Amino acid sequence: MSSAFSWFVILGTLGSLAGYFLLLYLNRTTKNPGRTTGHVYDGIEEYDNPLPAWWFWGFIISILFALGYLLYYPGLGNFTGFGAWSQVGELTDDQDAADERYGPIFAQYAAVPVDDLVNDPAAMRMGRRLFATNCSVCHGTAGTGSEGFPNLTDEEWLWGGDAEQIKATISNGRQASMPAWGPALQDQGVAEVAEYVMQLAGRDVDASLANAGRARFNTFCVACHGPEGAGQPMMGAPALNNEIWLYGNSHLRIEDAIRNGRNGQMPAFAERLGADKVHILAAYVKNLQQ
Ligand code: HEC
Ligand code: HEC
Repeated sequence: MSSAFSWFVILGTLGSLAGYFLLLYLNRTTKNPGRTTGHVYDGIEEYDNPLPAWWFWGFIISILFALGYLLYYPGLGNFTGFGAWSQVGELTDDQDAADERYGPIFAQYAAVPVDDLVNDPAAMRMGRRLFATNCSVCHGTAGTGSEGFPNLTDEEWLWGGDAEQIKATISNGRQASMPAWGPALQDQGVAEVAEYVMQLAGRDVDASLANAGRARFNTFCVACHGPEGAGQPMMGAPALNNEIWLYGNSHLRIEDAIRNGRNGQMPAFAERLGADKVHILAAYVKNLQQ
């Protein structure tokens, strides 16, 4: 805050403390103890007595406590207090203490290969907590995903299901890029290629439409989705030859994906969580398969 505002806060705070003190001090005795003030409320008379001593000293002690508090902790404008306390300092102290306590446990797990860590119940309990905090908002508490957020419990992988691939996904994030084909293919072309995609998935389709779609697929789509539509983890391109859909299984949604493209984004966690926690999470994700 600006120094003028800082002084405003300091003077306001100390001024009101001084005001309370003055008010108490000036009213510590009365001229007519034991007499009434003449005020009567519902038959109850008001006596002109000073505050009881314990009450008076209670207030004095509160004022002294407030002054001590304001000297030790930040509270008076820009003055940071002689105790050098700050919220950020307390947070980093707590984080350091947690790192010291849990660091060795995480490091111990980091030395175990992901594929073995999967069978360690204590590590998986830790993984479940990390997943609930960092991942469940998008992938669901059980990891089953929802539209646009992949199901991590099924056997299909966009970016590959090896330990190293999963670790790379969590550490660095992933940016999928499925181009929009509407402008190039026009409505007819989109309808044809969608029909072929549904044939790849094993549905009953209009054979002549699908045939026309196959030619387009082999021109425009094989580079990423592969000749049989089996997908390509290098590009994050999903398999199209099964009934697992990231963006919905209806004819309309499939055409929509082809016409308008899709750009799913998985955020990077390496910096936020550190390599050891990513390692445990990778094992937890593999464990979801079982
Ligand atoms: C440059 C690579 C690339 C090309 C070329 C490409 N795709 Fe894709 N496609 C992707 C990626 C990557 C995704 C996943 C998008 C995401 O995860 O957000 C995807 C997703 C899809 C989906 C949605 C799948 C689902 O599970 O919901 C369909 C359908 C699809 N593509 C069909 C096609 C068709 C048909 C073509 C050719 C006209 C095509 N793609 C060409 C990369 C590509
Ligand atoms: C903001 C939402 C969001 C959060 C948070 C998030 N993810 Fe993802 N994740 C996604 C999206 C979207 C994709 C799919 C990207 C694409 O379309 O290719 C994805 C993809 C993945 C994949 C790849 C799946 C595959 O089939 O290859 C894994 C593994 C994964 N996430 C794990 C995690 C873990 C573990 C966490 C927690 C540390 C996490 N995600 C947090 C949105 C999120």
